[in-house]
Amino acid sequence: MKIIRCADELRRELKAQAGKSVGLVPTMGFLHAGHISLVNASRENTDLTVVSVFVNPTQFGPNEDFDSYPRDEARDAELLRAAGADIMFVPTVSEMYPEGNSTDIVLTSGIKTKLCAKTRPTHFDGVTNVVARLLCLVKPDKAFFGRKDAQQLAIITRLTRDMLIGTQIVGCPIVRERDGLAMSSRNTYLSESERASALSISRSIKKAAENIEKGKALASVRDGVSAEISASGGRVDYVEIVDPGTLEEIDDGGMGFSGDYLLAVAAYFGKTRLIDNIARIDGKCI
Ligand code: PAJ
Repeated sequence: MKIIRCADELRRELKAQAGKSVGLVPTMGFLHAGHISLVNASRENTDLTVVSVFVNPTQFGPNEDFDSYPRDEARDAELLRAAGADIMFVPTVSEMYPEGNSTDIVLTSGIKTKLCAKTRPTHFDGVTNVVARLLCLVKPDKAFFGRKDAQQLAIITRLTRDMLIGTQIVGCPIVRERDGLAMSSRNTYLSESERASALSISRSIKKAAENIEKGKALASVRDGVSAEISASGGRVDYVEIVDPGTLEEIDDGGMGFSGDYLLAVAAYFGKTRLIDNIARIDGKCI
């Protein structure tokens, strides 16, 4: 595996490997099995896998955890080597945002104002801009994103289509700990008791999906998830049941719902904000 830090060097390397199909896995590092599942998907579907490791400053709000975000490049490199990645791209901030950068991609879609955007209003502009730059640089055939960040996946799918980028965006399943907690680099912030409480998220959304299958009204399903998370000591940011593409709230008129949906949750345990979701996509529960 090659470790590359400069955009120019990455371009040269990709040119030297011309003819191979390229998969891109964008990450912020501190890798776990969720990230590695994306590397595996890329390896299965493309000839050359590029994994970017970059803690992107523009997607963190002023009071968020940019400085304290966990970083361990040596460990990430070891995990990526073991997983069979071909290139680990570890740029500096000035590589991704060249000095004097004066170009921003602005999402105009309502998607960026929903769910997480209500508490993180500038987050998705930062995500869009860094992913757009990575896609322009690597020009991958396919790019792999986790369904854990469902809003991010919807936004990047839209970006790629709207800007005629041509890369196929592939959504991959959420990888969970054995007890159900969705894997996240931020889980390291949780105390033992907060971690135990946080299991209420995966437990309640699983139950919620079963209740939706049974035809229960969406409002009561949503209230059930909120109540269970609050009872465990979590502070609910939002629980919403929305269309997976537009993220518009689904109105079932109190009658239950049999179409595709995304049930998305954000909740605080102590100071740590966790997100998770469950969905029915193309009629299948994932
Ligand atoms: P990061 O949080 O490091 O996640 C990188 C990728 O791993 C994302 O596509 C995310 O959805 C996926 N991922 C994280 N946890 C997962 C899990 N438990 N199961 C499956 N996939 C999981 O998301 C970002 O970084 C950044 O916003 C980024 C896209 C790199 C732009 O900076």
